[in-house]
Amino acid sequence: MRVWALPLALLALVVCVTYSVAYRRSAEEPSVIVPLRPVSVDPVLLAKRLASMQAGWPRSRKFDCSRIKCVALTFDDGPGEHTVRLLDLLSSRDVRATFFVIGQMVAADKGGLITRRIVDDGHEIGNHSWSHPPLAQLPHEAVRRELKHTEDIVEQVTGVRMRVMRPPYGSTDDGVAAETRREGLAQILWNVDTLDWRDRVASTVAKRAGEAKPGSIILLHDIHPSTVDAVPALLDTLGRKGFTFVTVSELYGKTPLPGRTYTSR
Ligand code: NI
Repeated sequence: MRVWALPLALLALVVCVTYSVAYRRSAEEPSVIVPLRPVSVDPVLLAKRLASMQAGWPRSRKFDCSRIKCVALTFDDGPGEHTVRLLDLLSSRDVRATFFVIGQMVAADKGGLITRRIVDDGHEIGNHSWSHPPLAQLPHEAVRRELKHTEDIVEQVTGVRMRVMRPPYGSTDDGVAAETRREGLAQILWNVDTLDWRDRVASTVAKRAGEAKPGSIILLHDIHPSTVDAVPALLDTLGRKGFTFVTVSELYGKTPLPGRTYTSR
């Protein structure tokens, strides 16, 4: 064999493998799914985050929600164009919440700035799938891909490995539960539905949220400006009733168990 034959053969092999992997990926994924893109992450920041994770992220404050009136606000479907205004509102009142983010929205968040701020402000971040399908209607591999792609991009952007997820539309079954267990995610549903996606009226949303009971998980969507408009009033109402605003992990006083479903405390 001539000396140049081996490197040439190796090159041909690499080209073949690269093409076949690229072809398989595009054949597997429906066109609505935005492919994962490399995200630029400051390596110093990432190292800090990984260190803080080892120190026990999420940075849960300690509350005994069996003794005090706790409520968990949850915001789904972002990050979006109204999320920053919401984060400003929450931080001005020192309120923490849980954000169930959609992978595609994280991919569209330029530089991951909003996603990172959710974590930096001390909120809990959860997995709301990559493209928001009803998971119980998908084959297992598709459920796994929806969860995993979102896990990966959130970890790339924030350095945080999520512990909780919310199935879009609350669509779950034993198969979805098994996949979430595999991915180390607890399933968080809700017991107060503000129907803010349907009724885009801030006063209506605030009134429904204000009816929460101790231990409630309230469903909201930060993609609607009317929901963000409702936040000051709902914080006032629940605050006057003596509620403490906690993240979902804080509500239970520990990390919820992977695969299990939670609707309230
Ligand atoms: Ni949703």
